[in-house]
Amino acid sequence: MSKKRIAIVGATGMVGEAMLAVVQKYNMSKHDYTLFSSKRSAGKKIQLFGKTHIVEELNEKSFDSGFDVAVFSAGAGISEVFAPIAVEKGAVVVDNSSKFRMNKDVPLVVPEVNPDDIKSHKGIIANPNCSTIQAVVAIYPIYREYGIKRIVYSTYQAVSGAGVKGYTDLDSGIRSYVDGIERELVKFPYPIFDNCLPHIDDFLESGYTKEEQKMIDETKKIFHDDTIAITATTVRVPVFGAHSESINLELDKEYDLEALKELLSNSPGLVLQDNVSENIYPLASNSVGKDEVFVGRVRRDFSIKNGLNLWVVSDNVRKGAATNAIQIAKVLLED
Ligand SMILES: NC(=O)c1ccc[n+]([C@@H]2O[C@H](COP(=O)([O-])OP(=O)(O)OC[C@H]3O[C@@H](n4cnc5c(N)ncnc54)[C@H](OP(=O)(O)O)[C@@H]3O)[C@@H](O)[C@H]2O)c1
Repeated sequence: MSKKRIAIVGATGMVGEAMLAVVQKYNMSKHDYTLFSSKRSAGKKIQLFGKTHIVEELNEKSFDSGFDVAVFSAGAGISEVFAPIAVEKGAVVVDNSSKFRMNKDVPLVVPEVNPDDIKSHKGIIANPNCSTIQAVVAIYPIYREYGIKRIVYSTYQAVSGAGVKGYTDLDSGIRSYVDGIERELVKFPYPIFDNCLPHIDDFLESGYTKEEQKMIDETKKIFHDDTIAITATTVRVPVFGAHSESINLELDKEYDLEALKELLSNSPGLVLQDNVSENIYPLASNSVGKDEVFVGRVRRDFSIKNGLNLWVVSDNVRKGAATNAIQIAKVLLED
């Protein structure tokens, strides 16, 4: 891999910081990195591969010097304005926001599932929503081997998925419980401490939330399959990091449970943690800071033919955002 120039937009955010950890973990040290943020964090010093990088404020001229890859993680509004500028100046953009995900000219990629879609990009590649990424890593091997008729997603999502403000609401809820002093909520409409909020992103006219609709639409786009029936309920829970998901599947073909578990244990990016006799199953607290998707509680749904239940957990900031984006960037850089 020759030396390339990489821009990281939103390098000071939750996902941005995780991206810097992942490029170091993958030892992508030979490239030149330029880090961008808003005015607020510009000038901040960040160590990367033992070198000090000074964070720059993003502006219209930021990409003039020419980048090979620009990874965006600063929200949909920033991607909307600046991603086309980066592309015009010669960069391939990997975008973490929801801005371009359902655009038909933009591939939506999870490298364990549809890596070949990277080749069809026209300048922008989208990273799927965090809850979708971990779900499709777990169910893709099953989809390929047995086919899937119907998916029921029920999620238990960490506050880190709502950025720093989500974190703050849970933290201040805990403090208020301890010291009895009321603190104002900065992110959620109700206290997240001691609550489960069946409300992630805005409500649509259908009664679903945008988060639920994203899981439905993005799964179909990544699998290139509109025939799967999918429904979703997404819930914010008082957990700091890592999303958990109950996934109920109706498969096309009959399956042998042990063979299916064996398939999962040999699938890329996936770790089977399933030994209930020893209380072994995926946990959010064990998954934070890791790049894999963890699957357990693999069992038959006896209420339907070829039914299956899974419990899937992953760090939403790592594989759900940063790791997936850097995996895509790595493929682009190796090409
Ligand atoms: N958290 C997750 O689990 C998750 C998962 C998947 C996708 N995402 C997506 O990733 C993106 C970032 O999320 P996050 O959780 O990392 O948010 P965050 O912690 O709030 O970080 C936002 C980042 O964007 C930068 N930024 C804000 N306004 C900017 C501007 N005008 N110009 C340039 N940079 C600007 C911030 O810089 P300052 O430091 O200067 O404010 C910071 O680096 C969002 O699109 C989010 O939807 C997040």
